[in-house]
Amino acid sequence: MGTDSGGSPVLMDLEELLATRLLVQGNSGSGKSHLLRRLLEGSAGLVQQVVIDPEGDFVSLSEAFGHVSIDAAEYSLPDVARLAVRIREHRASVVLNLEGLELEEQMRCAAALLGGLFEAPRELWYPALVVVDEAQVFAPAGAGDVSDDARRASLGAMTNLMCRGRKRGLAGVIATQRLAKLAKNVAAEASNFLMGRTFLDIDMLRAADLLGMERRQAEVIRDLERGQFLALGPAISRRPISVRIGAVKTAAKSGSPMLIPLPSAPAADMEDLLFAPGTNEPPPPPPPPPPAVPADDIIRNLAAPAPPPVPQTPVIGPEEQETVVAEIFAEIVAEGGQHPPASLYQDFQLRCRMRGASAALDMTEFGRRLAMARAGIADPDDYEESIALGACLPDEMLAPFLAIAVAARQGADCPSDAALAALYGTSSAGRARRMLAFIEEKGLIVCRTDLSGRRSITLPHLGWTTAAAPPDPSTPSRLARIDARPRRSATGR
Ligand SMILES: Nc1ncnc2c1ncn2[C@@H]1O[C@H](COP(=O)(O)OP(=O)(O)OP(=O)(O)O)[C@@H](O)[C@H]1O
Ligand SMILES: [Mg+2]
Repeated sequence: MGTDSGGSPVLMDLEELLATRLLVQGNSGSGKSHLLRRLLEGSAGLVQQVVIDPEGDFVSLSEAFGHVSIDAAEYSLPDVARLAVRIREHRASVVLNLEGLELEEQMRCAAALLGGLFEAPRELWYPALVVVDEAQVFAPAGAGDVSDDARRASLGAMTNLMCRGRKRGLAGVIATQRLAKLAKNVAAEASNFLMGRTFLDIDMLRAADLLGMERRQAEVIRDLERGQFLALGPAISRRPISVRIGAVKTAAKSGSPMLIPLPSAPAADMEDLLFAPGTNEPPPPPPPPPPAVPADDIIRNLAAPAPPPVPQTPVIGPEEQETVVAEIFAEIVAEGGQHPPASLYQDFQLRCRMRGASAALDMTEFGRRLAMARAGIADPDDYEESIALGACLPDEMLAPFLAIAVAARQGADCPSDAALAALYGTSSAGRARRMLAFIEEKGLIVCRTDLSGRRSITLPHLGWTTAAAPPDPSTPSRLARIDARPRRSATGR
């Protein structure tokens, strides 16, 4: 593989590796892919190799060593699974190039190949190294943005490879940038480790754990150079040793970025260059000619009456607009249910569009209007001061506060705990009472309980008080009595 700190060669015992698998970890650029390439090149004539290559880095092995490069984008998943059986049958060394596939497709494709290798009939269980670069992609530690079934398929195939592959002749060799992102059971099945430069504590600690080192000792992993790895395992060394990985014959497609002197053109020239009309560029392709129309069709079209113009979306006048918006709020309130504000807002916008209203409320204004509608306020002018007072409360307390204001203004019964809880978005009377205490602390209301246990609430700024009512009435539907609308028309406001 390379040389140790004293310059002596470090060897990899291939037969031992087949039985004990290998895990390589190191940050991006630490030299993992280079290390895998060194191992593949060194063992190419000795053992069958199957490489799962998410970046298309290893296809260069085909020219120098005769690996068959399989461009995954050209095959269906069942094709890949069938190919896997042939690969075992003919003991062919292959590189499965997953470059150009979406992440989820990469996972499914790797799962199909690994599954096919794993399920091959017993008489085909010849030994093979199965090398997986960027293994955290195929065996992720947690759920990511991919669908559950893709993740399950790929994680299952990787687990089979690392946990149950040995008997079938499959020896997993996996590399990952982040141990913490690799499924634990997949990492734990390797008995050989090559740990490269690692910065994050969480990865370093897991690496130390796998190498059986103390945390303090593990600090050396931080100081490793590119291409230098701490090695341990029955196929390499029974004690942790440092290995400097040797040179490779084939090249990776992607090299390391190097500094290249920048052009010395002054800024103004650069601007000219960027915006200059293209002189030596090929002209853009002309638009395709319209398809030829038979003369008969042209004549028929000329004779036909012009199609009616597409009607514009009807936009209703400002007054009707307000009525429609109020109706929509009433519908949303009547439908009830506990939905997150964002989805209610989306639903509101959709309903507006469906009725030709312009839905010109932002999310905050929508929240305010919804609270008013829930409290039974149809005309905001009646409750201007209450709404202004409620502005200092958290959004979710506005509806219950306004419901109290409505009841108080009408002298109706004080809303029950259950009614206030529903408006607060909870079913807990205790939470409703804590909310009341909070609003009272703010000085917006004063609660009073009389000797028979009936509660009344006063809004001291406005001089309104609700009628006293039991906070937990056995009779249902007190909320019906705090509807503001009939009373408002009775007072003429
Ligand atoms: N032992 C080495 N000797 C010489 N060059 C090396 C060695 N190891 C790595 N390099 C070079 O360093 C660069 C990065 O290495 P490599 O691509 O193997 O990193 P990596 O760990 O696989 O990174 P990533 O996780 O981003 O794929 C490459 O250009 C590679 O040629
Ligand atoms: Mg790499």
